[in-house]
Amino acid sequence: MTMALRVVVLISGRGSNLVALHRSARPQTYEIVGVISSRADAAGLAYARTQGLTTQVIEAGRYAQRAAYEAVLADTIDTYAPDMIALAGFMRILTDGFVERYAGRLINIHPSLLPAFPGLDTHRRALEAGVSEHGATVHYVTPIVDGGPIIDQMRLTVDPHETAEQLAARVLTLEHELYPAALTRLAETHRRTRL
Ligand code: GAR
Repeated sequence: MTMALRVVVLISGRGSNLVALHRSARPQTYEIVGVISSRADAAGLAYARTQGLTTQVIEAGRYAQRAAYEAVLADTIDTYAPDMIALAGFMRILTDGFVERYAGRLINIHPSLLPAFPGLDTHRRALEAGVSEHGATVHYVTPIVDGGPIIDQMRLTVDPHETAEQLAARVLTLEHELYPAALTRLAETHRRTRL
């Protein structure tokens, strides 16, 4: 019997964190059982298909109301019976009801050292604020956007002469290490609590 944590990954675009998560998945830790994209043209979706992952597209624009969209999203997620739902560049704000339905099972990665710089455009804002350290955070999702309990962070030293694009690229490299490591640790904790 496999002990892998069942993970559904939600994406909207490039999907580089999905790639990192997928490459680090192991039978003893976690398995990506499904990938759901909010966009049909997401590059991450193309990757998932080439890897033989099960994919679904649920485009918010097709639903008149957010509640209808989230109901379909939740029903789809539940068909995978996941232990964990990992947002990876999923660019939709989720309602409190949705977030609470998956309390303790919904995680996200954010490109800053939360609680600093929630929201968008984190790298430019970090440079403008003149911070000496920046990085990435994996956290539980709660109704407070980018405000849930922190699972883990990785940090780097900011070079005040670098551009936001250069900083973003360096942080993204950290993200690709941080997210799989955090999910692997969660899987190990989860396994111990089930033994
Ligand atoms: C990543 O940098 C991730 O941290 C960010 O979107 C990017 C997705 O890239 N997420 C957020 O800003 C969430 N608040 P990817 O599609 O290549 O993984």
